Amino acid sequence: MAAIQQRTEQALDAALPDAALSPDELHAAMRYAVLEGGKRVRALLVHAAGEIAAAEPERLDRAACAVELIHAYSLVHDDLPCMDNDVLRRGKPTVHVEFGEATALLTGDALQTLAFQVLSDTPLADDAGRQLEMIAQLAQASGSRGMAGGQAIDLASVGKELTREELEFMHIHKTGALIRASVRLGALCGAPDDDALDRLDRYGKLVGLLFQVVDDILDADADTATLGKTAGKDADHDKPTYVSLLGISETRALADALLAEACEALAPLGGRAHHLAELAGFIVHRKF
Ligand code: IPE
Ligand code: IPE
Ligand code: MG
Ligand code: MG
Ligand code: MG
Repeated sequence: MAAIQQRTEQALDAALPDAALSPDELHAAMRYAVLEGGKRVRALLVHAAGEIAAAEPERLDRAACAVELIHAYSLVHDDLPCMDNDVLRRGKPTVHVEFGEATALLTGDALQTLAFQVLSDTPLADDAGRQLEMIAQLAQASGSRGMAGGQAIDLASVGKELTREELEFMHIHKTGALIRASVRLGALCGAPDDDALDRLDRYGKLVGLLFQVVDDILDADADTATLGKTAGKDADHDKPTYVSLLGISETRALADALLAEACEALAPLGGRAHHLAELAGFIVHRKF
């Protein structure tokens, strides 16, 4: 994990414009939002899925960068006063606190377009058609039928009680879609067979939901210093979460069940899927 995290950091550093380049404030804010922080779970998933499809690591670095750039943009916007109004992220003041709201908005915009630049400006797949498919999948996962749509539901749900189905729908979109796309993009950098791709996709869908279920638990259960973001915000803001719906111990049981299902989806892939199975365990047992 440490090796992939380090090469992701280097790839992101290389992809981001130098802070001395004009407009320097925007470039400084982009680098502040992306670098030195974050678990890089999505990058780890890209690489672990790519391993199964024998993808070249240099291609995986590009795909990993693209998903981490989309993710970083989503955090900058998620923290804005008009959304979750958070002042702490990755142990630092949020981008709008440090650089102002207008720059935070533009930082998100610019990170999002940079992600698509990184995904399209060098060959990353065996043929151009496959690379177009990767670009389309990242776009779909990030947009109104994916992450942005999930965020819209999240905002519209404040103060409401959702059914379990509605909550699952929200989580699968706001967080699950990008995680699922990370797995698919990693595989598409190589040459996955159809059965492996189906299994990976099922795994991606499950760990995507699992990731936000655990995020809900951590918000309720961990402290601000450990999380590097303000703990207890979901309850303070009256957000429906798995913890508010099921209570913490039933939510933990759900996380364990999702972990078991995700590992089951991988089982026929054998030892090749070892890193993906370990990552699912990491997603459940992480402390922040
Ligand atoms: C936090 O994501 C936001 C969610 C989608 C739940 P991460 O927990 O992956 O955040 P970083 O990248 O490690 O900071
Ligand atoms: C964030 O969900 C989902 C996205 C950023 C798309 P949360 O609002 O729960 O994430 P945190 O807890 O602020 O990291
Ligand atoms: Mg939010
Ligand atoms: Mg938030
Ligand atoms: Mg949260």
